[in-house]
Amino acid sequence: MPEAKPETTPQKIIIDTDPGQDDAVALLLALASPQELEVLGIVSVAGNVGLAQNSKNALKIVELSGRDDIRVYAGCDRPIRRTPVTAEHVHGQSGLDGPDLPDPKISLEDVHGVDFIIQTLENSPENEIILCALGPLTNIAMALVRAPHIAPKIKEIVLMGGGCFEGGNITPTAEFNIYVDPEAADIVMHCGAPITIIPLDVTHAALATKDRLQSFLNMGNKTGAAIHQMLTFSERFDLEKYQWRGAPLHDPCVIAYVLAPDMFSGRFINVEIEVSSELTRGMTVADFWGVTDREPNATFMRYIDDDHYYTMLAERLATLP
Ligand code: BDR
Ligand code: CA
Repeated sequence: MPEAKPETTPQKIIIDTDPGQDDAVALLLALASPQELEVLGIVSVAGNVGLAQNSKNALKIVELSGRDDIRVYAGCDRPIRRTPVTAEHVHGQSGLDGPDLPDPKISLEDVHGVDFIIQTLENSPENEIILCALGPLTNIAMALVRAPHIAPKIKEIVLMGGGCFEGGNITPTAEFNIYVDPEAADIVMHCGAPITIIPLDVTHAALATKDRLQSFLNMGNKTGAAIHQMLTFSERFDLEKYQWRGAPLHDPCVIAYVLAPDMFSGRFINVEIEVSSELTRGMTVADFWGVTDREPNATFMRYIDDDHYYTMLAERLATLP
């Protein structure tokens, strides 16, 4: 049975992203949920590929969703201190290889993404806006450094990044989003706002099996066909690497958490970011068993109800064009 949708005021969110096939599905999930989510804006960041291409990809996804009212802002084009690291080997040269999506007709807003984040939070009441982070945390960290007074305004930062029991995916100990800009992640982890982390420990249990991929195609809409093409492209790297029955579908977990937090379980613990060592750069040092007396600063998720996740994706994405 389709989920009953409550009649409440939609939760206001800002999505910070580097699309990315899995980012694209996350954007589409959010844009397919207007009764629960008001997307105040999408901010692009350098990550999977360079900023210009990530921004263009975000515009393409907004057009695919039919929600041309959604504004897209370009953010930072490089990490705070590090040389950019990209992931064309996973996502393809365009960052969004797979479907042949038309060049976007809509354009980027004429405001820097970091300014947008700062101004939007400054003009909002406390505890109203959730920041959904699907890429390196550069924009959010820059906003917090430039305008620390916005931190108490943030209702929650929900981010895909890091790993504990599953280790890393770009180095043995680091997950890509945190590895690319560890200084940014370190700033975010200490900003004082409530933080929820969706790490590899969760996303590695959210596999897009053949049946689940097929269900996107079976939706019969343009969006479902595009998602099927995207994920069929991006899975090849992970299938070869892990030899699993499907590839992890990382970033939509962030949106799924905002929509249905009970789908996830984890612990409120201390998480620190390794910024000094080259060997373990970007490791999320997660004190899951409470073996230090360091103050908890994040809810670190460990489990997902993956059947619920894919049911939610199929139901909601079917409502798009
Ligand atoms: C994360 O890295 C990116 O390549 C994906 O889009 C996701 O945000 C997974 O490690
Ligand atoms: Ca991403």
